[in-house]
Amino acid sequence: MYKRRYQYVVSKWAKTQLLMENEMIRSYIPETQLLTRQSLLQMLERYPFLYLKPDNGMKGKGIFRLDQIQKTYWLHTSEWVKSFSNLNQVTGMLKRLTKDNKYLIQQGVELITQQGMPIDFRLLLQKPKDEWVYSGVVGKLGEKNSITTNLACGGKAIPFRTAIENTLGLSYGEIRDLRDELMDLSFLIADELTFTYPGLRELGIDYAIDTKGKAWLIEVNTTPGHRLFKGLPNEKIYKRIIRNIKIIYSDT
Ligand SMILES: Nc1ncnc2c1ncn2[C@@H]1O[C@H](COP(=O)(O)OP(=O)(O)O)[C@@H](O)[C@H]1O
Ligand SMILES: [Mg+2]
Repeated sequence: MYKRRYQYVVSKWAKTQLLMENEMIRSYIPETQLLTRQSLLQMLERYPFLYLKPDNGMKGKGIFRLDQIQKTYWLHTSEWVKSFSNLNQVTGMLKRLTKDNKYLIQQGVELITQQGMPIDFRLLLQKPKDEWVYSGVVGKLGEKNSITTNLACGGKAIPFRTAIENTLGLSYGEIRDLRDELMDLSFLIADELTFTYPGLRELGIDYAIDTKGKAWLIEVNTTPGHRLFKGLPNEKIYKRIIRNIKIIYSDT
């Protein structure tokens, strides 16, 4: 709809490294490394499952999940699952799949689910004038057994409150506190990133809540889509987002 003219940052690794410098933000980031044979071995010793993502990826493209169950490895893509009995087979397969692309390897977070459908969240901040403003938060309900919740992978919008109520069964006040926690963290992230990249105007921040109710930062998108918010029952949110977008584009 609009051609983006403001500053953006593609590399997930660059953004992660920058955000890791802030101690508060770092406590929300699942352990992340660049994928090498060595980091793979190390991460497999530490975590029961891992996510592998292309450094320049988006919309869930090129993402793999690797589970280790007893002595068997299970590699999931959006299309298939394959089991391996030894690690050399896994690394051989990963080499073919990742080719020469730079990949990140990340501690897996056990997402809350609703009838087998994984849920995570997208919070949107925009900077129509000189200040970052909170524009909304939305749950992303992935397809059953899907390894991602992206809209492009069949994900659907679900209100934040409904998502938390249906999965963790938190009270009204607890849900509000959780949302406030994500909002505070998001403004901190915005400040950190704008310090290095002053031309940023929108941030679509992906959060996961694990089955114990702990929040995790999955990634920060600097050219976020808005369509997900169109799927919310509260139409005001999408209208506000579009109003801000118009201001941003009249200014850049
Ligand atoms: N560490 C992780 N643990 C659990 N799920 C993850 C993890 N990383 C990514 N995912 C799932 O994959 C989706 C896409 O990952 P993300 O890092 O946002 O990449 P993309 O840029 O392709 O959207 C997330 O929204 C989430 O559903
Ligand atoms: Mg994402």
